[in-house]
Amino acid sequence: MSICTCNREGGRCAEMSMVCLTDFEEYAKEHLSKATWDYYAAGADECCTRDDNLLAYKRIRLRPRILRDVSVCDTRTTVQGTEISFPVGIAPTAFHCLAWHEGEVATARATEALNTCTYSTCSVEEIVAAAPNGYRWFQLYVYRDRKLSEHIVQRAESLGYKALVLTVDVPYTGKRRNDIRNQFKLPPHLKVKNFDGVFQQAEAYGVPPDTLDPSISWKDVQWLQSITRLPIIIKGILTKEDAELAVEHGVQGIIVSNHGGRQLDGGPASIDALAEIVNTVRGRIEVYVDGGIRTGSDVLKALALGAKCVFIGRPAIWGLAYKGEEGVREVLQILNDEFRLSMALSGCRNVAEISRDLIQCSKL
Ligand code: FNR
Ligand code: LAC
Repeated sequence: MSICTCNREGGRCAEMSMVCLTDFEEYAKEHLSKATWDYYAAGADECCTRDDNLLAYKRIRLRPRILRDVSVCDTRTTVQGTEISFPVGIAPTAFHCLAWHEGEVATARATEALNTCTYSTCSVEEIVAAAPNGYRWFQLYVYRDRKLSEHIVQRAESLGYKALVLTVDVPYTGKRRNDIRNQFKLPPHLKVKNFDGVFQQAEAYGVPPDTLDPSISWKDVQWLQSITRLPIIIKGILTKEDAELAVEHGVQGIIVSNHGGRQLDGGPASIDALAEIVNTVRGRIEVYVDGGIRTGSDVLKALALGAKCVFIGRPAIWGLAYKGEEGVREVLQILNDEFRLSMALSGCRNVAEISRDLIQCSKL
């Protein structure tokens, strides 16, 4: 443990060694402004779903195997045919410049693996210039003005983004009580840069919430397919019925997600929704999950229940708030180390060996 030299009374400072992801959370909570912290932490209404995202992982018990020579554990996997070093990506979360001055550019530099991008306070061009070799997907909202969406899809495609993540769980923004109390909005010196100078209406406050189109339906998936050659991943599916529709509509992947519990309060923890979706999809397309991943054993459980890869949202922001690019790297490194250790302790030498047999059957 390194010695703290900043004379803070208690609490966490940047000199202290970080051991687990919640250390970064503690740091971020202490160092970000209240309004920014509240925005990142927010869940909808009473935050039941947000909190259950974490608790649900803690309810799952593993069935470890022993004496399997785990001297080497290989954490590599593939997503959409591309190899990644371990099955964790960064989920799209908005406004990274609130956590660290370089914003999404720092996040992009920190990860050579998946880095999806959203209501970004840096432009796609800045992100790609900062980390030209990154493997990244672009997260898309469908705006009332389809030309706005079309414009950004074309830019992302020409900049080498490898897939489009269509977020489908925000026809309206969930009711986040503290954001209302704090009258949260992006400070005037920050902008949603992807729309900078593109469309007048987008400029007032980044992209105002009422520009998202609540009439979005499966027809829009077909529209999106007609304007892009990129694979389409649908983010925000929580039921087998919608998973089946996604497969029938010819998309290439599903992210099982409740938006970190920020939208419908009372919906399932995402890990609890995963099994029925994996059972329905039966390997026809890849299924990923996000929400509540805080430890390497959470990653192991998600893979055992059939996710090809998981995404972290808030933990990446906490890393950013801690030390920018270096902080996000540390978060990923800790998660990687913990995942490798969990694999070894449960007798898995590679990700192909992580199967449902690892999970106590009450969850299946
Ligand atoms: C999000 N999320 C999100 N998702 C998305 O598709 N587009 C977006 O713009 C955002 N913005 C956003 C902002 C913030 C502050 C948070 C915390 C989350 C949801 C995100 O992609 C992901 O689903 C959750 O964050 C996953 O849960 P954890 O890892 O934060 O528990
Ligand atoms: C959020 C929006 C930006 O969750 O998706 O804050």
